[in-house]
Amino acid sequence: MKSAYILLSMILVLGLMVVPIVWGDNDEYGAQYGRRSTGVALISNPVYEDECGGDCHMAYQPGLLPDKSWEKIMSDLEDHFGDNAEVDTRTHKAITDFLVANSADKSNYRRSRRFTSSNDPGTIPIRISETSYFKHEHDEIPARMVTGNKDVNSFSNCNACHRRAEQASYRERDIFIPGHGRWDD
Ligand code: HEC
Repeated sequence: MKSAYILLSMILVLGLMVVPIVWGDNDEYGAQYGRRSTGVALISNPVYEDECGGDCHMAYQPGLLPDKSWEKIMSDLEDHFGDNAEVDTRTHKAITDFLVANSADKSNYRRSRRFTSSNDPGTIPIRISETSYFKHEHDEIPARMVTGNKDVNSFSNCNACHRRAEQASYRERDIFIPGHGRWDD
């Protein structure tokens, strides 16, 4: 009798452990269970966040571009999309190493994989918005909601529409386009 109880409670405990795996369709659970992750990894690095996030754009997750792209961007910080974004040699190395080690090609995350696998072989995009996957996902959004929208201005402001972009969530339910609202396709 006693062993039946033990068996029963073991089944119960195992069942409870499975619940979040089955119901957890969000990126937080994905991150916890590695392979199931659907999004882009949220990895924090204080040096990167300090130097590359804030004034001009958010600190894009490294999993949004292939390693070759990050290397190319980091090789010319003097002319960084029209601004001088140079940093000292040590900081430069720390940031490059971080971006390359966590780039889209090194990631298991499903969306990251698409930011790299979608591109034509041989091309090295230097903007996230130049990647084939990005273009494919955003080609139905009219310009008046982006460049013609003073609360967005450019696709580089991911967090203007993806309200949890800084937490690495690009899920549809977190999208809200200023002046327009939710996106139903
Ligand atoms: C003007 C608002 C806007 C901006 C700015 C924007 N996006 Fe999006 N994004 C959208 C919309 C709307 C969709 C959903 C498109 C669809 O499903 O047809 C989307 C879809 C996506 C998807 C796919 C999500 C999914 O569930 O399949 C990813 C990933 C993404 N965006 C990343 C980014 C990144 C990274 C940036 C910044 C470099 C960015 N977006 C900038 C509006 C925006």
